[in-house]
Amino acid sequence: MSATEQISFRVEPTKTSRLSQVDFNNLKFGQNMSDHMLVAEYNNGKWEDVSIVPYGDLSISPSMSALHYGQAIFEGIKAYKFEDGTVSIFRPDKNWERFNKSASRLQMPEVPEEIFLGGLKQLLDIDRGWVPSIEGTSLYIRPFMFATESALGVHPSISYKFVIITCPVGAYYSKPISLKVETHYTRAAEGGVGFSKNAGNYALSLYPTQLANDEGYDQIMWTDALEHKYIEEAGTANLIFRIGDTIITPHGDTILHGVTRRTIMQLAEEWGYKAEQRKVSVQELIEGIKSGKVSEAFAAGTAATITHIDRIGFQGTDYNLPPIEGRDFSNKVLNYLNQLRYGKIVDPFGWNFII
Ligand code: COI
Repeated sequence: MSATEQISFRVEPTKTSRLSQVDFNNLKFGQNMSDHMLVAEYNNGKWEDVSIVPYGDLSISPSMSALHYGQAIFEGIKAYKFEDGTVSIFRPDKNWERFNKSASRLQMPEVPEEIFLGGLKQLLDIDRGWVPSIEGTSLYIRPFMFATESALGVHPSISYKFVIITCPVGAYYSKPISLKVETHYTRAAEGGVGFSKNAGNYALSLYPTQLANDEGYDQIMWTDALEHKYIEEAGTANLIFRIGDTIITPHGDTILHGVTRRTIMQLAEEWGYKAEQRKVSVQELIEGIKSGKVSEAFAAGTAATITHIDRIGFQGTDYNLPPIEGRDFSNKVLNYLNQLRYGKIVDPFGWNFII
């Protein structure tokens, strides 16, 4: 990957690092924020005041428009540490591109490469010690932007804050998950904001997910808004199936265009599998499980990485998927990506962004 343009930011290093307080053998997702964060302000049509400062509270106005009208977007990225101490971020350029697509759909300003990628590089350089090295762990990176104008009129904000925070994490899901096919509630409709990574897409999932949790499922398998017939995504991750010899992922503008999903579909093609992005009906999936044609099903995302699905609930019946050990494709991808991300094999695709 080409080097990003360097711009100078105001850097205020912390006087008291919290690094020694972290138990790297027992990392909980999103609980141990690293020492520094990047903050940039957008005012009068331009980005200004980019700074890397000690992690801490932000001051906001109660009439700040993001709190009322939801102009708020985010990303999820991971950085890894090689055995020799090298720090590498996995495909952050793709997250930067997706972030700006979300921004434009929510009528927010784009964040330039120098701030998103260049800033991330400087932030990780200063917090290099926070990138864990134990296999299965990584530094989770959360860039986000929200509208800061103090105004209750409904209009695009004239000011924004772009922030990057990071935290060392272990697995988001520590075991295979069960999904309930959702046929009543809807995540996204055609023409809506399903493809974007905006905060509201996650808020709306909380109530139906709680209902699914109450029924004993870990997550929801969302279906299309019109007929509840076609599978979309899991809300915290995309979905990928192996049906016969084909690797298939649902596709469309109601689904988040995941970087992990895209990576896996590219690998499937490279390795000679038939790979398809197309509609998958619930019926095709259920019939496929019953007949044995569906041999693999997994959630794919930055936080989730690859999480096997072991059970799918549909209209009151549970369908169990084949044992994890026999899932050649997903196990091979998981192993390959682990080796690549931790620098144990050469990176033929230029996916590792070395700090
Ligand atoms: C990610 O995979 O990075 C996400 O943003 C999912 C999040 C809801 C945990």
